[in-house]
Amino acid sequence: MVILGAGPAGLVLGNLLHRGGIDCVILERASRAHVQTRARAGFLAANTVRILERHGLAEGLHRRGRAHGTCEFRTEGGGFRLDYSGLGLGEQHTVYPQQYLVTDLLTQFLDVGGRIHFDTEAVSVLGAHCARPSVTVRAPDGRCGPWRARYVAGCDGRHGAARRSLPPGAVRRHHRDHGVSWLGLLVEAPPSLDAVGYAVHDRGFAGHMARTPDVTRYYLQCERDSPADTWPEDRIWDELELRMHAADHGPLHRGRIVQRAVVSLESDVLEPLRHGALFLAGDAASVISPSAAKGANLAVLEAEILARALIDDLGHGDGRGLARYSAQCLAHIWRAQDFSQWMTQLLHGPSGSDGESSFHNSLRRARIESLRTSRSQQDWFAENYVGV
Ligand code: APR
Repeated sequence: MVILGAGPAGLVLGNLLHRGGIDCVILERASRAHVQTRARAGFLAANTVRILERHGLAEGLHRRGRAHGTCEFRTEGGGFRLDYSGLGLGEQHTVYPQQYLVTDLLTQFLDVGGRIHFDTEAVSVLGAHCARPSVTVRAPDGRCGPWRARYVAGCDGRHGAARRSLPPGAVRRHHRDHGVSWLGLLVEAPPSLDAVGYAVHDRGFAGHMARTPDVTRYYLQCERDSPADTWPEDRIWDELELRMHAADHGPLHRGRIVQRAVVSLESDVLEPLRHGALFLAGDAASVISPSAAKGANLAVLEAEILARALIDDLGHGDGRGLARYSAQCLAHIWRAQDFSQWMTQLLHGPSGSDGESSFHNSLRRARIESLRTSRSQQDWFAENYVGV
């Protein structure tokens, strides 16, 4: 069994397969130092924590993760907080930076004798319908050669070899460009509020998400395709404070901006998630807009479903799980996509003053007002916000 990619999807899959007695190897294009320090998501849903606990992979997040159950919406009309851990199914997030989770998963995989090759790029997957498909691999010395396996798991993200190797027409790609970009910032400063902050403003969205006691993530909606370095630091802070209504709620804790990148909000879903012996999981299967922080949670869920199905097939000759894999994951993916789309539309509106823009923006205000005042709407929000 060959697994492409050592992100959350590939590493959870590798750990579970290894523990299930399945011979597997992970091929990772980047270096070990790179995957262990790449700052990305950080909000783990309750179900993700349960999956990691079930397989003995949660020790690090129990030690260093922090429970989180509140979000705060700020608008021109004032602000309100939702203690979502007391609403809906009563579940909360655990804030645990993704690079910590990846480091834990990697350490545990290596500790039990798991095999992983860093600086090793999968170039293509060939013969997915043959008895033993092959992965063309570029080794660290630049030489290419084939690796054969019974199955290949594409956990190598949206630009990986698994997606590239799908023949035209084999898989359908549903795609949505939300037409919105965020300037994502990682700041060396403590969180400015004890909640996820979502600020809705005529000038665009601004967001605040805790990472660690000393590092905080901020997002600023920005012009499409604008380079990340066009904003001077002072302008970033002024704009964040303006959109987050700091005059009413108090100033933000400023600090050194240690990472900045522009992300375009896009979503896509591949269907089916299987092409012969090649299975897709995580971002390789589906990309989700970051509004509701679902990407890493879906990746872990899909990895567990795939691991179980592969163990049944390779260990016990029962292929029913693999036959169901795509449909089972797609049901979760579409539900998460639906909620993420709802969040994306709640947080961003068109900037024009024509009738269509004002209609859309008035609908958003009505939605926010329902969320502020309606208990059933709050329960629905909480269940979907934490759920995967
Ligand atoms: N060969 C080998 N490895 C590759 C290749 C390749 N051709 N292409 C990409 N990779 C590696 C990347 O270097 C990366 O380490 O695959 C890994 C993919 O990891 P992630 O991008 O973290 O994807 P995944 O495990 O699916 O996790 C997805 O995590 O940060 C969240 O929101 C994010 O939704 C995303 C989720």
